[in-house]
Amino acid sequence: MASKTLFAFLFASFLLLSIPPPSTSQNHLTSFSISDSPWRPSSNKLLLSPNSTFAAGFLPLPASPNLYSFSIWYNNNNFSGGTENPSTVVVWSATFTANASLSITNSGRLVLVSSGGASPSNLWPGAPSSGSNSNSSTSLILSEDGNLAFGDFWSSFLHPTDTFLPGQSINGTSIRSRNGKFSFSDSTSLFFNTSEQYWKIDDALSQLSPDGTVPKASGDKVYCADYGSNRTRRLKLDDDGNLRIYSFDPVERRWFVAWQAIQEPCRVKGICGENAICTTTNDGSDSTSCVCAPGFAAVGGSSSCRRKRKIELGGSDFKFLRLDYVNFSGGTNGSLLDAPNFGACRANCSAMPSCLGFLFKYDGSGYCFLHLGRLLDGLWSPGTEAAMYLKVHASETDAASNFTVLMDVLPTTCSVRIGLPIPPEESNSTARNVAIICTLFAAELISGAVFLWVFLRKFIKYRDMAQTLGLELLPAGGPRRFTYAELKLATGDFSKAIGRGGFGDVYRGELPDKRVVAVKCLKNVAGGDAEFWAEVTIIARMHHLNLVRLWGFCAEKGQRILVYEYVPNGSLDRYLFPAGRTLASLDVEPDPNGPTVIDGKKPMLDWGVRYRIALGVARSIAYLHEECLEWVLHCDIKPENILLGEDFCPKISDFGLAKLRKKEDMVSMSRIRGTRGYMAPEWIKSDPITPKADVYSFGMVLLEIVTGSRNFEMQGSLMDSEDWYFPRWAFEKVFKESKVEDILDRQVKHCYDKKVHFEMVDRMVKTAMWCLQDKPEMRPSMGKVAKMLEGTVEIIEPTKPTIFFLQE
Ligand SMILES: *[C@@H]1O[C@H](CO)[C@@H](O)[C@H](O)[C@H]1NC(C)=O
Ligand SMILES: *[C@@H]1O[C@H](CO)[C@@H](O)[C@H](O)[C@H]1NC(C)=O
Ligand SMILES: *[C@@H]1O[C@H](CO)[C@@H](O)[C@H](O)[C@H]1NC(C)=O
Ligand SMILES: *[C@@H]1O[C@H](CO)[C@@H](O)[C@H](O)[C@H]1NC(C)=O
Ligand SMILES: *[C@@H]1O[C@H](CO)[C@@H](O)[C@H](O)[C@H]1NC(C)=O
Ligand SMILES: *[C@@H]1O[C@H](CO)[C@@H](O)[C@H](O)[C@H]1NC(C)=O
Ligand SMILES: *[C@@H]1O[C@H](CO)[C@@H](O)[C@H](O)[C@H]1NC(C)=O
Ligand SMILES: *[C@@H]1O[C@H](CO)[C@@H](O)[C@H](O)[C@H]1NC(C)=O
Ligand SMILES: *[C@@H]1O[C@H](CO)[C@@H](O)[C@H](O)[C@H]1NC(C)=O
Ligand SMILES: *[C@@H]1O[C@H](CO)[C@@H](O)[C@H](O)[C@H]1NC(C)=O
Ligand SMILES: *[C@@H]1O[C@H](CO)[C@@H](O)[C@H](O)[C@H]1NC(C)=O
Repeated sequence: MASKTLFAFLFASFLLLSIPPPSTSQNHLTSFSISDSPWRPSSNKLLLSPNSTFAAGFLPLPASPNLYSFSIWYNNNNFSGGTENPSTVVVWSATFTANASLSITNSGRLVLVSSGGASPSNLWPGAPSSGSNSNSSTSLILSEDGNLAFGDFWSSFLHPTDTFLPGQSINGTSIRSRNGKFSFSDSTSLFFNTSEQYWKIDDALSQLSPDGTVPKASGDKVYCADYGSNRTRRLKLDDDGNLRIYSFDPVERRWFVAWQAIQEPCRVKGICGENAICTTTNDGSDSTSCVCAPGFAAVGGSSSCRRKRKIELGGSDFKFLRLDYVNFSGGTNGSLLDAPNFGACRANCSAMPSCLGFLFKYDGSGYCFLHLGRLLDGLWSPGTEAAMYLKVHASETDAASNFTVLMDVLPTTCSVRIGLPIPPEESNSTARNVAIICTLFAAELISGAVFLWVFLRKFIKYRDMAQTLGLELLPAGGPRRFTYAELKLATGDFSKAIGRGGFGDVYRGELPDKRVVAVKCLKNVAGGDAEFWAEVTIIARMHHLNLVRLWGFCAEKGQRILVYEYVPNGSLDRYLFPAGRTLASLDVEPDPNGPTVIDGKKPMLDWGVRYRIALGVARSIAYLHEECLEWVLHCDIKPENILLGEDFCPKISDFGLAKLRKKEDMVSMSRIRGTRGYMAPEWIKSDPITPKADVYSFGMVLLEIVTGSRNFEMQGSLMDSEDWYFPRWAFEKVFKESKVEDILDRQVKHCYDKKVHFEMVDRMVKTAMWCLQDKPEMRPSMGKVAKMLEGTVEIIEPTKPTIFFLQE
């Protein structure tokens, strides 16, 4: 009953919204000439293209039915309606007018006049000037491609509003969003308020082709997700400031977004007002919301915020709140300093009364940006890779929690410089954490100073390179498309293999711009070109410090190749386990730039580094699960897929690939691994796979990080017995026998100092135990796991991990 009512309602609203203007006895024109003048909204005329794909006429404004605008829209019912676009799809419209009429005058001019005013005013944008020798026999014609033309004098294609159609030249004209806030100009850039640029493509776009590409002046192209098939398409600047290509899917009979300029909607300027921060809602839609920065309150009825308590000029009654991943990116008057460390950056801002806060990067680059002007266009984005320290009144009680909960920049960032960040003086649990982590850092530094120094010199080059590349983190139009020939050249005909994994072989390569890349040739990939491209675009959208960055791809002649950033130190397993105990033995040449070897020995990962790796991995998986929607399950977490950056900052690879994989492959893979691998029990039981499967795999890796031993081994010897279960063994050692020392990696056991390391190791072991529970619902979510490791939540005593086939 309820559904019936709902259906009726939907149907009614569909009718209301989708029926183009007046319907009774419409007068269909094939051309509009002087004899049809004047044309008023009430004349019930409709100008149609030859095959009736497009129609032009007066459309009532949705909000006020007494107002009309002269518009062009898709007339074919196939292209309007559907769930995505219940209303008429308008591709061009003149400025909204009341009581307008369209006429061809005796002198042959085409005019759109508003009859309301005393003297009729010409509202037609770009109607022929009075000087032109127009001809009264010229008529207005709508062609099949959607162009409305009045002889050679005027055409809608030369005066676009918010949409470009295939065949229409993008070069030389600009479009504006319907709400007037945003514009796309110079065929390259998006602007807010005509001057604030927020997006730019490297090269001018020429025109949209029906096959779903947009050639650029350089000959390169922009590709739609469904490029290759001739479809009905349009390029539109939407009211949210994003430039999108819509394609009409003839099977599902709806429009869908096949390409968009901006992947993170908060990068559009002007979305939120002053002192507000734009965040993306978590529901997977691209909608945004504006929240006030801590210490600020909303100004009624606007998206701007006002400081709650003023800071006295020159006083010292202020403190700083740390907002991770927040950047106020617009209109600020600021100064960029090269600060030797966090303290110097903060001191500079403290000393300056006009400083509202500062942005600091913990990567040792000395990036310190002081905000002196207004705080505009605030956004939260993992792509920021910096923390904003906001100056607020000392008595401020607002917590910065909304912007620190998800991912802390500080602990996972791997500082290379000896100048360590000074923790902010906060008395909450974060501060405690920071203190712990800094102690770890310090301990690590003393033991590893020499090692770090050697390291530093060797990899300073990489770091600089990575930072230069960092500027390209957010690719303009998604990942770059490479040709097979380009990659063949870059990799020396795929000669330098650096890895062999489940998804395919990996080669080292160097692009013409000297970027070193890891080129992964995928095998057994399901789906067509368009599907592959769509997946790759999604993978490339994921930005996190602890995820390997995808730069491009190649889909040519059945090849499926991904181009990743090159992570110099290779995978975690090479450091954790004694040589020769790799899962699939790597019969490849040692990579000359591969794992760091000092005096012929691999460096030892000390407890601090291990903890940081665990935390970084946990956070990035949490990011994949919670920020990027649940469909981005990793499904293949193991030490081989955890790569180590130049300063042993962990980076996860192979994420997002599970979807590309054929299902049978995944299943057979899990069989091969059997129960002793990293696959959660639900893979074997054929239970539904949820994000908790990744949690299990992570738990196994965590335990291996602590023990330095594969889960099917015990301190060097292969455990073949049917009823031996690694997590259970570890549990009994730690919680029954209270002998933590017994499970610790022998390589670094001597460095274990109970006073310094106990809490950290204890947290790692307890967290691992919770992750390794047999029942998925018993395992914590990945976000919780990250917090357990951080110490921001209490960890209750774990229950003994067991597995369904083991009898207790
Ligand atoms: C209109 O449709 C006819 C038949 O469907 C087709 O032959 C013709 O090419 C179409 N004209 C245009 C301009 O698309
Ligand atoms: C509209 O859609 C129907 C059903 O999909 C199809 O048969 C018809 O040819 C389409 N008309 C046009 C003009 O595309
Ligand atoms: C439009 O014209 C009608 C009569 O022609 C008049 O009654 C009405 O007030 C006009 N509306 C506006 C908004 O000018
Ligand atoms: C007006 O148009 C007609 C037919 O299109 C043409 O024969 C005539 O020469 C034109 N006159 C001028 C002044 O362009
Ligand atoms: C647009 O820019 C002008 C001048 O550059 C400024 O006065 C105006 O406030 C801006 N509008 C918005 C909405 O920011
Ligand atoms: C764009 O237009 C300018 C002149 O309007 C022309 O010189 C240039 O070649 C055009 N570029 C493309 C890619 O069409
Ligand atoms: C798309 O249309 C163009 C010209 O209209 C034609 O050359 C091309 O073969 C078509 N492609 C497909 C895949 O139908
Ligand atoms: C903050 O935003 C500005 C403007 O978009 C940009 O130039 C700057 O690099 C951003 N800072 C960081 C750390 O991302
Ligand atoms: C930027 O701030 C400095 C210091 O407050 C001030 O002197 C300067 O005039 C400001 N510039 C602009 C463009 O507002
Ligand atoms: C501001 O930064 C500069 C450069 O890092 C430094 O030399 C100077 O001492 C700092 N000023 C204060 C007040 O800390
Ligand atoms: C955090 O955000 C929510 C809405 O997203 C808001 O209601 C709440 O007040 C915010 N908390 C703080 C401390 O800013």
